[in-house]
Amino acid sequence: MPKKIILDCDPGHDDAIALLLAHGSPEIELLAVTTVAGNQTLPKVTRNALAVASVAGIVGVPFASGAERPLIRELSTAPSIHGESGLDGPELPKPTFELDTRHAVDLIIDTVMNHEHGTVTLVATACLTNLALAARKEPRIVDRVQKVVLMGGGIHVGNRTAVAEFNIIVDPEAAQIVFSAGWSVVMVGLDLTHQARTTPEVRDAIAAVDTGPARFVGELLKFYGGRYKAAWGLDAAPMHDPCAVAHVIDPTIVRAVPVPIAIETTGTLTLGMTVADFRTPAPEGCPTSAALELDFDRFWELVVDALKRIGDPAS
Ligand code: BDR
Ligand code: CA
Repeated sequence: MPKKIILDCDPGHDDAIALLLAHGSPEIELLAVTTVAGNQTLPKVTRNALAVASVAGIVGVPFASGAERPLIRELSTAPSIHGESGLDGPELPKPTFELDTRHAVDLIIDTVMNHEHGTVTLVATACLTNLALAARKEPRIVDRVQKVVLMGGGIHVGNRTAVAEFNIIVDPEAAQIVFSAGWSVVMVGLDLTHQARTTPEVRDAIAAVDTGPARFVGELLKFYGGRYKAAWGLDAAPMHDPCAVAHVIDPTIVRAVPVPIAIETTGTLTLGMTVADFRTPAPEGCPTSAALELDFDRFWELVVDALKRIGDPAS
Protein backbone atom coordinates (compact mmCIF):
# COMPACT_ATOMS: atom_id res chain seq x y z
CA MET A 1 0.00 0.00 0.00
CA PRO A 2 1.52 3.36 -0.96
CA LYS A 3 2.08 5.78 1.90
CA LYS A 4 -0.26 8.75 1.81
CA ILE A 5 1.49 12.08 2.20
CA ILE A 6 0.75 15.79 2.18
CA LEU A 7 3.80 17.76 1.04
CA ASP A 8 4.13 21.21 2.62
CA CYS A 9 6.89 23.08 0.78
CA ASP A 10 8.42 26.36 -0.43
CA PRO A 11 9.93 25.57 -3.86
CA GLY A 12 12.91 26.07 -3.80
CA HIS A 13 15.22 23.91 -5.93
CA ASP A 14 15.38 21.00 -3.49
CA ASP A 15 11.64 21.25 -2.76
CA ALA A 16 11.02 20.89 -6.50
CA ILE A 17 13.09 17.71 -6.56
CA ALA A 18 11.28 16.45 -3.45
CA LEU A 19 7.98 16.95 -5.27
CA LEU A 20 9.28 15.09 -8.33
CA LEU A 21 10.52 12.27 -6.12
CA ALA A 22 7.15 11.96 -4.40
CA HIS A 23 5.26 12.05 -7.68
CA GLY A 24 7.50 9.52 -9.39
CA SER A 25 7.62 6.97 -6.57
CA PRO A 26 5.08 4.13 -6.44
CA GLU A 27 5.61 3.90 -2.67
CA ILE A 28 3.98 7.34 -2.28
CA GLU A 29 0.44 8.55 -2.80
CA LEU A 30 0.53 12.34 -2.98
CA LEU A 31 -2.74 13.55 -1.43
CA ALA A 32 -2.09 17.29 -1.49
CA VAL A 33 0.64 19.90 -1.90
CA THR A 34 0.65 23.04 0.22
CA THR A 35 2.95 26.03 0.15
CA VAL A 36 4.29 28.41 2.75
CA ALA A 37 6.45 31.51 2.45
CA GLY A 38 10.10 30.65 3.09
CA ASN A 39 12.67 30.42 0.33
CA GLN A 40 10.73 33.22 -1.33
CA THR A 41 7.44 35.03 -0.84
CA LEU A 42 4.22 33.04 -0.88
CA PRO A 43 3.10 34.05 -4.40
CA LYS A 44 6.51 33.07 -5.79
CA VAL A 45 6.82 29.67 -4.10
CA THR A 46 3.21 28.88 -4.97
CA ARG A 47 3.76 29.73 -8.63
CA ASN A 48 6.90 27.58 -8.52
CA ALA A 49 5.01 24.61 -7.08
CA LEU A 50 2.46 24.85 -9.90
CA ALA A 51 5.27 25.13 -12.46
CA VAL A 52 6.86 21.95 -11.14
CA ALA A 53 3.47 20.24 -11.32
CA SER A 54 3.31 21.21 -15.02
CA VAL A 55 6.81 19.88 -15.67
CA ALA A 56 6.04 16.60 -13.92
CA GLY A 57 2.56 16.17 -15.36
CA ILE A 58 0.95 16.11 -11.91
CA VAL A 59 -2.84 16.26 -12.24
CA GLY A 60 -5.68 15.56 -9.84
CA VAL A 61 -3.74 16.57 -6.72
CA PRO A 62 -4.99 19.68 -4.89
CA PHE A 63 -2.43 22.47 -4.41
CA ALA A 64 -3.12 25.25 -1.92
CA SER A 65 -1.18 28.22 -0.63
CA GLY A 66 -0.88 28.95 3.05
CA ALA A 67 0.90 31.27 5.45
CA GLU A 68 2.51 34.32 3.90
CA ARG A 69 4.69 35.00 6.92
CA PRO A 70 5.94 33.34 10.10
CA LEU A 71 3.76 33.30 13.23
CA ILE A 72 5.32 36.33 14.91
CA ARG A 73 8.50 37.27 13.07
CA GLU A 74 9.16 39.02 9.78
CA LEU A 75 9.70 36.73 6.79
CA SER A 76 13.33 36.21 5.85
CA THR A 77 13.86 34.55 2.44
CA ALA A 78 16.82 32.77 0.79
CA PRO A 79 17.56 34.47 -2.57
CA SER A 80 21.28 33.78 -2.19
CA ILE A 81 20.60 30.07 -2.74
CA HIS A 82 17.31 30.00 -4.69
CA GLY A 83 17.43 33.30 -6.62
CA GLU A 84 14.86 36.06 -6.98
CA SER A 85 12.13 33.74 -8.27
CA GLY A 86 12.84 31.10 -5.63
CA LEU A 87 13.47 28.67 -8.49
CA ASP A 88 16.00 30.43 -10.69
CA GLY A 89 17.64 28.53 -13.53
CA PRO A 90 15.16 26.82 -15.83
CA GLU A 91 12.34 28.52 -17.66
CA LEU A 92 9.20 27.97 -15.61
CA PRO A 93 6.17 26.73 -17.54
CA LYS A 94 2.74 28.18 -16.97
CA PRO A 95 0.48 26.38 -14.50
CA THR A 96 -1.89 23.89 -16.08
CA PHE A 97 -4.45 23.96 -13.27
CA GLU A 98 -5.87 26.32 -10.66
CA LEU A 99 -5.04 26.37 -6.98
CA ASP A 100 -7.49 24.79 -4.57
CA THR A 101 -9.59 27.61 -3.13
CA ARG A 102 -8.95 26.55 0.46
CA HIS A 103 -6.15 27.95 2.61
CA ALA A 104 -3.35 25.38 2.94
CA VAL A 105 -4.13 24.97 6.64
CA ASP A 106 -7.70 23.94 5.81
CA LEU A 107 -6.59 21.64 3.03
CA ILE A 108 -4.21 19.92 5.46
CA ILE A 109 -6.92 19.59 8.11
CA ASP A 110 -9.60 18.37 5.69
CA THR A 111 -7.24 15.86 4.11
CA VAL A 112 -6.10 14.41 7.43
CA MET A 113 -9.63 14.30 8.86
CA ASN A 114 -11.06 12.69 5.70
CA HIS A 115 -8.58 9.82 5.74
CA GLU A 116 -8.44 6.91 8.12
CA HIS A 117 -6.79 7.42 11.46
CA GLY A 118 -3.02 6.91 11.29
CA THR A 119 -2.77 6.79 7.52
CA VAL A 120 -1.53 10.27 6.53
CA THR A 121 2.06 11.47 6.88
CA LEU A 122 2.80 15.18 6.81
CA VAL A 123 6.05 15.85 4.97
CA ALA A 124 7.32 19.38 5.52
CA THR A 125 10.24 20.77 3.54
CA ALA A 126 9.88 24.41 4.59
CA CYS A 127 9.35 26.40 7.74
CA LEU A 128 6.64 24.94 9.93
CA THR A 129 4.09 27.77 9.99
CA ASN A 130 1.32 25.89 8.14
CA LEU A 131 1.72 22.77 10.28
CA ALA A 132 1.70 24.76 13.51
CA LEU A 133 -1.42 26.66 12.46
CA ALA A 134 -3.14 23.43 11.42
CA ALA A 135 -2.34 21.77 14.75
CA ARG A 136 -3.71 24.79 16.61
CA LYS A 137 -6.83 25.13 14.47
CA GLU A 138 -7.75 21.42 14.56
CA PRO A 139 -5.88 19.71 17.40
CA ARG A 140 -7.43 16.33 16.49
CA ILE A 141 -5.00 16.07 13.56
CA VAL A 142 -2.13 15.62 16.03
CA ASP A 143 -3.42 12.23 17.06
CA ARG A 144 -4.78 11.37 13.64
CA VAL A 145 -1.68 11.68 11.43
CA GLN A 146 0.77 8.81 11.25
CA LYS A 147 3.73 11.12 11.70
CA VAL A 148 5.43 14.31 10.62
CA VAL A 149 8.63 13.97 8.60
CA LEU A 150 10.36 17.29 8.19
CA MET A 151 13.50 18.65 6.61
CA GLY A 152 14.85 21.10 9.09
CA GLY A 153 17.24 21.55 11.94
CA GLY A 154 20.55 19.92 12.59
CA ILE A 155 22.21 18.51 15.65
CA HIS A 156 25.82 19.26 14.99
CA VAL A 157 25.55 21.96 12.36
CA GLY A 158 23.57 24.98 11.17
CA ASN A 159 23.40 26.77 7.83
CA ARG A 160 21.58 30.07 8.40
CA THR A 161 23.66 30.59 11.56
CA ALA A 162 26.40 28.54 13.19
CA VAL A 163 23.79 26.44 14.98
CA ALA A 164 20.45 27.03 13.23
CA GLU A 165 19.05 25.69 10.01
CA PHE A 166 16.96 27.88 7.66
CA ASN A 167 13.53 26.18 7.94
CA ILE A 168 13.64 26.29 11.72
CA ILE A 169 15.06 29.76 12.26
CA VAL A 170 12.62 31.38 9.81
CA ASP A 171 9.78 30.45 12.17
CA PRO A 172 11.16 29.05 15.43
CA GLU A 173 7.87 29.48 17.29
CA ALA A 174 6.08 27.35 14.70
CA ALA A 175 8.85 24.76 14.98
CA GLN A 176 8.48 24.76 18.75
CA ILE A 177 4.75 24.03 18.38
CA VAL A 178 5.35 21.23 15.88
CA PHE A 179 8.18 19.56 17.82
CA SER A 180 6.29 19.63 21.13
CA ALA A 181 2.81 18.74 19.86
CA GLY A 182 3.10 15.07 20.79
CA TRP A 183 2.79 13.58 17.31
CA SER A 184 5.70 11.59 16.02
CA VAL A 185 8.26 13.91 14.41
CA VAL A 186 11.18 12.68 12.33
CA MET A 187 13.71 15.47 11.92
CA VAL A 188 15.66 15.06 8.69
CA GLY A 189 18.21 17.74 9.41
CA LEU A 190 21.53 18.92 8.10
CA ASP A 191 23.46 16.05 9.75
CA LEU A 192 21.68 13.84 7.23
CA THR A 193 21.20 16.10 4.23
CA HIS A 194 24.84 17.19 4.13
CA GLN A 195 25.57 13.56 3.22
CA ALA A 196 23.29 13.81 0.17
CA ARG A 197 25.76 15.63 -2.04
CA THR A 198 24.98 16.25 -5.70
CA THR A 199 28.23 14.82 -7.01
CA PRO A 200 29.24 14.95 -10.71
CA GLU A 201 28.32 11.24 -10.95
CA VAL A 202 24.83 12.02 -9.63
CA ARG A 203 24.43 14.90 -12.07
CA ASP A 204 25.52 12.61 -14.93
CA ALA A 205 23.03 9.92 -13.90
CA ILE A 206 20.22 12.51 -13.92
CA ALA A 207 21.34 13.90 -17.28
CA ALA A 208 21.35 10.38 -18.72
CA VAL A 209 17.61 10.07 -18.05
CA ASP A 210 17.29 12.61 -20.86
CA THR A 211 13.66 13.62 -20.49
CA GLY A 212 12.07 17.07 -20.12
CA PRO A 213 11.73 16.74 -16.32
CA ALA A 214 15.31 15.41 -16.01
CA ARG A 215 16.64 18.34 -18.05
CA PHE A 216 14.60 20.67 -15.84
CA VAL A 217 16.30 19.11 -12.80
CA GLY A 218 19.66 19.49 -14.54
CA GLU A 219 19.04 23.23 -14.92
CA LEU A 220 17.90 23.51 -11.32
CA LEU A 221 21.07 21.77 -10.19
CA LYS A 222 23.26 24.03 -12.30
CA PHE A 223 21.88 27.16 -10.62
CA TYR A 224 21.64 25.66 -7.13
CA GLY A 225 25.11 24.10 -7.36
CA GLY A 226 26.55 27.41 -8.54
CA ARG A 227 25.05 29.23 -5.58
CA TYR A 228 26.35 26.63 -3.10
CA LYS A 229 29.77 26.86 -4.72
CA ALA A 230 29.74 30.66 -4.42
CA ALA A 231 28.38 30.78 -0.87
CA TRP A 232 29.99 27.69 0.67
CA GLY A 233 32.82 26.78 -1.68
CA LEU A 234 31.21 23.38 -2.23
CA ASP A 235 31.65 21.43 -5.48
CA ALA A 236 28.68 19.16 -4.70
CA ALA A 237 25.68 20.89 -3.17
CA PRO A 238 23.71 19.13 -0.42
CA MET A 239 20.27 17.98 -1.54
CA HIS A 240 18.08 18.60 1.50
CA ASP A 241 14.35 18.25 0.92
CA PRO A 242 14.13 14.99 -1.06
CA CYS A 243 15.74 13.26 1.93
CA ALA A 244 12.49 13.74 3.89
CA VAL A 245 10.49 12.08 1.11
CA ALA A 246 13.10 9.31 0.91
CA HIS A 247 12.63 8.59 4.61
CA VAL A 248 8.92 8.00 3.98
CA ILE A 249 9.67 5.77 0.98
CA ASP A 250 12.20 3.67 2.87
CA PRO A 251 13.39 4.50 6.39
CA THR A 252 16.41 2.22 5.92
CA ILE A 253 17.75 4.73 3.37
CA VAL A 254 17.38 7.73 5.70
CA ARG A 255 17.91 6.23 9.16
CA ALA A 256 16.65 8.00 12.27
CA VAL A 257 17.21 7.43 15.98
CA PRO A 258 14.85 8.48 18.78
CA VAL A 259 16.04 11.48 20.79
CA PRO A 260 14.25 14.29 22.64
CA ILE A 261 14.52 17.51 20.61
CA ALA A 262 13.55 21.03 21.72
CA ILE A 263 13.66 24.29 19.78
CA GLU A 264 15.52 27.33 21.03
CA THR A 265 13.21 30.35 20.67
CA THR A 266 14.92 32.93 22.88
CA GLY A 267 18.69 32.52 22.50
CA THR A 268 20.62 35.47 21.14
CA LEU A 269 23.31 33.31 19.52
CA THR A 270 21.31 30.10 19.36
CA LEU A 271 17.86 31.13 18.10
CA GLY A 272 16.37 28.31 16.02
CA MET A 273 18.75 25.65 17.29
CA THR A 274 17.32 22.13 17.47
CA VAL A 275 18.60 20.98 20.84
CA ALA A 276 18.84 17.18 20.96
CA ASP A 277 19.46 15.45 24.27
CA PHE A 278 21.71 12.43 23.74
CA ARG A 279 22.88 12.23 27.37
CA THR A 280 20.85 9.10 28.09
CA PRO A 281 18.92 6.63 25.91
CA ALA A 282 15.69 8.21 24.65
CA PRO A 283 12.76 7.56 26.98
CA GLU A 284 10.22 4.90 25.98
CA GLY A 285 7.76 6.38 23.44
CA CYS A 286 9.95 9.44 22.71
CA PRO A 287 7.94 11.16 19.93
CA THR A 288 10.90 12.85 18.24
CA SER A 289 13.74 11.31 16.27
CA ALA A 290 16.66 12.59 14.25
CA ALA A 291 17.92 11.20 10.95
CA LEU A 292 21.66 10.72 11.07
CA GLU A 293 22.68 8.16 8.47
CA LEU A 294 22.09 8.17 4.72
CA ASP A 295 22.48 5.33 2.24
CA PHE A 296 23.87 7.62 -0.46
CA ASP A 297 23.62 5.21 -3.43
CA ARG A 298 20.10 4.06 -2.71
CA PHE A 299 18.95 7.63 -2.10
CA TRP A 300 20.08 8.84 -5.49
CA GLU A 301 18.74 5.68 -7.12
CA LEU A 302 15.31 6.66 -5.78
CA VAL A 303 15.60 10.10 -7.38
CA VAL A 304 16.85 8.80 -10.72
CA ASP A 305 14.24 6.02 -10.82
CA ALA A 306 11.47 8.51 -10.04
CA LEU A 307 12.59 10.67 -12.96
CA LYS A 308 12.63 7.62 -15.23
CA ARG A 309 9.09 6.74 -14.15
CA ILE A 310 7.86 10.29 -14.71
CA GLY A 311 9.25 10.09 -18.25
CA ASP A 312 8.20 12.83 -20.63
CA PRO A 313 4.68 13.78 -19.60
CA ALA A 314 4.48 16.59 -22.16
CA SER A 315 5.09 14.33 -25.17
C1 BDR B 1 16.28 24.10 3.67
O1 BDR B 1 16.21 25.50 3.47
C2 BDR B 1 15.69 25.79 2.19
O2 BDR B 1 16.40 26.82 1.58
C3 BDR B 1 15.75 24.50 1.41
O3 BDR B 1 14.68 24.43 0.47
C4 BDR B 1 15.63 23.45 2.48
O4 BDR B 1 14.28 23.17 2.77
C5 BDR B 1 17.74 23.71 3.88
O5 BDR B 1 18.25 24.36 4.99
CA1 CA C 1 12.52 23.85 1.26
